[in-house]
Amino acid sequence: LCSLWVLLIAFETPLKLCFEGAHIDHDDISWISNNTAKYRNAREPVAGKKDSTECWTIISTKAFGKNFKVPQENIPPSTEKVVTERLLTAFKAATGRKEVPRVCYTRVQLWGAAVPINVLGSGADCVFDCRHHLGVCGDWLSYPCIQGAAISGLSLAEKIQQHSAGQSATSTRLHPTFTAATTSAIGSFPTDKSLIFTPKS
Ligand SMILES: *[C@@H]1O[C@H](CO)[C@@H](O)[C@H](O)[C@H]1NC(C)=O
Repeated sequence: LCSLWVLLIAFETPLKLCFEGAHIDHDDISWISNNTAKYRNAREPVAGKKDSTECWTIISTKAFGKNFKVPQENIPPSTEKVVTERLLTAFKAATGRKEVPRVCYTRVQLWGAAVPINVLGSGADCVFDCRHHLGVCGDWLSYPCIQGAAISGLSLAEKIQQHSAGQSATSTRLHPTFTAATTSAIGSFPTDKSLIFTPKS
């Protein structure tokens, strides 16, 4: 598992960007998302008091997580400051904003055991032992992302079904060897070119 820095940042007024979340191609940050959008259906807080703050989550790259590794339970204030500044600078660059609204809150955290960096070397999507009726599925076996977890689960379900129907009595290799996952992106889903865009503002 790699380490990732995560910055939660609240701006006093909305940024008016044209997307709610994006994988970012940048040395320091890999993902940003509009946290406020998660609460879209929440009721207005106090009548007449419209809250205009917009809160974003910014996740670093694996390389950044490694370069700024510190004990996660005891983050030195100087590291906290540098990491917050660098992630915000990268956020501005990625969103094409020289200036952003006033920042009213930040909270930075080192996510020590973040996403898997290795996958099964055999290329199998799950592990199954037919003699002991034991199977394992997970994102750390195929692609380290939600899609990988789903594919691994479906593949294991199929193995169980075949096994219980007496159609197959085979096991996958039970001494799995791991190999480095191929992409450096967090969530490393197979990218589709049509999803890549460069925001204008
Ligand atoms: C972020 O989410 C809030 C709540 O849904 C919405 O009002 C705002 O326009 C969103 N901002 C962006 C840039 O998508």
